[in-house]
Amino acid sequence: MTAPGRASRGVRIAGTGSYLPEQRLTNADLVAMMDTTDEWIVQRTGIRERRRARIDQGESVSVLAAHALRQALDAAHLRPDDLDLIIGATMTPEMECPTCACLVAEAVGASRAGAFDLNAACSGFVFGLNVAHDLIRGGAYNTIALLGADTLTRHMNYSTAGRGTAIIFGDGAGAAILRATDDPALGILAQSIHASGPGWKDIYIPHRPTDFPSGTPPDANACGYVSMNGSSVFKFAVGTFPKLIEETLHKANLGPADIDLYICHQSNARILTAAREKFGLPESKLHINIDRVGNTVGASVPICLDELVRDGRVHPGMKVMFLAFGGGLTWGSSLWQL
Ligand code: UT7
Repeated sequence: MTAPGRASRGVRIAGTGSYLPEQRLTNADLVAMMDTTDEWIVQRTGIRERRRARIDQGESVSVLAAHALRQALDAAHLRPDDLDLIIGATMTPEMECPTCACLVAEAVGASRAGAFDLNAACSGFVFGLNVAHDLIRGGAYNTIALLGADTLTRHMNYSTAGRGTAIIFGDGAGAAILRATDDPALGILAQSIHASGPGWKDIYIPHRPTDFPSGTPPDANACGYVSMNGSSVFKFAVGTFPKLIEETLHKANLGPADIDLYICHQSNARILTAAREKFGLPESKLHINIDRVGNTVGASVPICLDELVRDGRVHPGMKVMFLAFGGGLTWGSSLWQL
């Protein structure tokens, strides 16, 4: 392809992919491990099962992400060497160094691509859409692979984690290829990236006793594991999600019904249903797959996107709003003209 000039370029989503580890962790499995019930989990979260990567057998986050990226490349009819850049949205890289994106570049053979990770917890993929889009729109790159991949179950101690925390998370990966196009109308119509530093205490993974917030007694046994104040995050999310939709619509001068699809971070089915009802949206416009995959953190939005693409529910000409919130606290949106 001849890359369009800077002034006349738009951005399109050229291909998507996703991958879930084979091992299932059902509500019945959790009932065997802790004091909970299938009924409670389904009623309070909508989750019936999630997947768990076998880290001890080498099924690490970059392995999941590489599977998703190979699919996305196939869907886009591209070769790994066509990629200029790989951005890995993850909060669970194998190591502090190298990044997940570098490991994926090696795994798929993307020898020309630059690579880096972007960590915004559950918001990472949506923030990454905004970053990758603007890098292409500005003319610096033509073809970027954006990954959303996480293996939070490796930071879960099922015997000591709070019951609310242990039940929601699952592992997975998704990928999207973003490319320059010569139609400037295509790409982002409105976007946002937000954070609230003081909210960090609601979800964190401490590494050493000094990492605990003041007022929380340091616990060496909790180091390396997720600590989450579920009800606080829930209240934050229920309030923030509708405001985020309103803010994004306002920026684009559109109404809720003008959007063809809302692709949202799958944190809890109740949060998604509340937003859907508030805006009077039909079920078909706000996809929920948390029943089958749980909350897959940075992977949840691209897994939803790929499912919708493969079901034939995403078409050129649609307006699609991507939304996420998560640890940090962070929240953001990306409204696309496809
Ligand atoms: O991805 C972004 C980050 N995370 C999130 O978005 C998570 C947002 N939060 C949530 O989804 C929900 O807060 C949870 C699913 C984590 C918890 O649900 P909740 O309705 O907020 O429950 P709660 O923590 O307020 O607890 C209510 C009751 C408590 O019992 P008492 O004190 O009322 O007797 C809990 O001990 O439910 C109990 N409980 C459970 N019972 C059975 C909490 N977890 C469980 C459980 N099974 N798994």
